[in-house]
Amino acid sequence: MTTKHYKRHLITSALPYANGPIHLGHLAGVYVPSDIYVRYLRRRKRDVISICGSDEHGVPITLKARNEGISPQAVVDRYHSINKKAFEDFGIAFDIYSRTSNKVHHETASEIFKTLYDKGVFIEKTSEQYYDEEAKTFLADRYITGACPHCGNPCAYGDQCEQCGTSLSPTDLINPVSTISGSKPVLRETKHWFLPLDQYEPWLKDWILEGHKEWKPNVYGQCKSWLDQGLHPRAVSRDLDWGIPVPVEGADGKVLYVWFDAPIGYISATKELTPDWELYWKDEGTRMLHFIGKDNIVFHCIVFPSILKAEGSYILPDNVPANEFLNLENDKISTSRNWAVWLHEYLEDFPGKQDVMRYVLCANAPENKDNDFTWKDFQNRNNNELVAILGNFVNRTLVLTHKYYDGKVPEITTLLDTDKQVLEEIGKIGERVEQSLELFRFREAIKTAMDLARLGNKYLADTEPWKAIKTDPERVKTILNVSLQITANLTLLLDPFLPFSMEKLRGFLGFEPTDWELIGKTELLKAGHEINKAALLYEKIEDDQIQAQIDKLMKSKEENLEEQEAAPLKQEIAFDDFSRIDLRSGCILEAEKVAKTKKLVKLKVDLGFEERTIVSGIAEYYDPATLPGKKVCVLANLAPRKLKGIESQGMILLSENPDGSLHFIEPAEDAVNGSEIN
Ligand code: 2FM
Ligand code: ZN
Repeated sequence: MTTKHYKRHLITSALPYANGPIHLGHLAGVYVPSDIYVRYLRRRKRDVISICGSDEHGVPITLKARNEGISPQAVVDRYHSINKKAFEDFGIAFDIYSRTSNKVHHETASEIFKTLYDKGVFIEKTSEQYYDEEAKTFLADRYITGACPHCGNPCAYGDQCEQCGTSLSPTDLINPVSTISGSKPVLRETKHWFLPLDQYEPWLKDWILEGHKEWKPNVYGQCKSWLDQGLHPRAVSRDLDWGIPVPVEGADGKVLYVWFDAPIGYISATKELTPDWELYWKDEGTRMLHFIGKDNIVFHCIVFPSILKAEGSYILPDNVPANEFLNLENDKISTSRNWAVWLHEYLEDFPGKQDVMRYVLCANAPENKDNDFTWKDFQNRNNNELVAILGNFVNRTLVLTHKYYDGKVPEITTLLDTDKQVLEEIGKIGERVEQSLELFRFREAIKTAMDLARLGNKYLADTEPWKAIKTDPERVKTILNVSLQITANLTLLLDPFLPFSMEKLRGFLGFEPTDWELIGKTELLKAGHEINKAALLYEKIEDDQIQAQIDKLMKSKEENLEEQEAAPLKQEIAFDDFSRIDLRSGCILEAEKVAKTKKLVKLKVDLGFEERTIVSGIAEYYDPATLPGKKVCVLANLAPRKLKGIESQGMILLSENPDGSLHFIEPAEDAVNGSEIN
């Protein structure tokens, strides 16, 4: 390969939060690709270590503890052990799965903060932040809701309004409420330390935009957009009683921001793993790669590298192959809504089928765009690809070898051109798989690796050894020798992707080597070598198993809807307040999606006495093309406001279901445009 031959590799996989179990989204986005890459490097005999562990700090963990009436430590202990075991059982071969509540991590993160502090890197700033007097805690932006000043959405968050997409500060919200206690928060002064990212901007631009044009377009694009918008200082401390205490004078009650300490967890875990940790972190001969999901890009490409750069003695990542998100049955995976397939449950429901899920998640990985996992696709890929292509080829080869030659590898009699072409193709496929892996194109890699099994099937179909055995038995020896060489090559090529079944297949063949370098060799199994008794590599998955999984998901959706509490009633108003609101019937004349937004649609609405332009956040629920002619209720005397540069002259009334979906409130069919709604 042409890539620079580094002395060693340091592979990190995002540390999952220890506030819930691992689900398929985590696996497809981060852990399956990182594991394939690590296994590939190991098969190439590279010096590689794979680092992961639990991210055990942060506000959500304290909230979960509060809700369950247990300590944050008890929460992280529970999920750390569930997740560590699930990863092991699924065959994710980390060299260490550590945790950030460890002593060594507290020490490492404190030391790095202290170094930066002593170097005068941080800016100290006192500002006012919302405080929940009932819960006695400062509030993270996400834990404050209120009305959006731009679109009136009553449930906007302190950092963003999900209806109109505008970024907000908590103090922008109208009538802010703490989601922890439901009380009205008050502003309190508090001091924090900020990392002046703006100062690193020129260096980051040079390092990423000039120096790493090879990064995946989704990663490079996101970095470019952050850098183009301009970076600002970011607070690296929080007012919280769970985390790593800020290790300086006058910082009582303050801890390091979870995103300051979490990536340092990679360093602490390496320290725990090996006394040579500095070689992996400080020697330019190391190639560091961060496997992450897209929501972590800014932290791994901008914030953490700036911390490492400011510290001064660490290397930087060579690449950050981040994936997009995996959806589940056409809906966003959500831990809080229990809309997920949990890894530990999958392992219970499908014992011995780790490779099936590894295969499906790799073949359908959300590499360049969000993708959808469906149980039907899972079943189809198992039955039509693993069973019908790979399993079928291997099974036919092994069964015929036992049947015709008592399990002994027959010798090659005469190699015809067709045989030679097939044997040559093995090495070519191997090279293509390697190229794809080097570019972190795992979907392409597994598809190409499966081409070798396809080639094997075609070879058997073309040569028909089951017929030739009667007419030309000598020829059959060659055919099965070639098929067995393909099979042995499959064990090498597919091992990083399907480690459980390839180990099984090596057992069937009595073939032990696993070196990547052997791929393409055509005498891996010598004539006369005796293979072992074989069994099926993969089994068909029946409809009832799939239906049981779909039913399980549907049940969780129903339970979730039942559990949703109705939004609390707002404060009572007088009739006069109501009579100031002017609601009218209207009819949509035109509708078009607002460019570069996910949710906004620009509508032209006929109010009878005039036409209005109204921007509404409905694009996820209504196709603009279907809207002209629709009757709507309009809040007609709302002060005009600009949304994405468009003046919106009113508001369309919508009802919102517990799952967040929006629906028009429609006036009667015969309501006259402009008529009053009282
Ligand atoms: O998004 C997450 O799940 C974070 N816990 C990832 C942290 S990655 C690293 F920085 F530790
Ligand atoms: Zn809004």
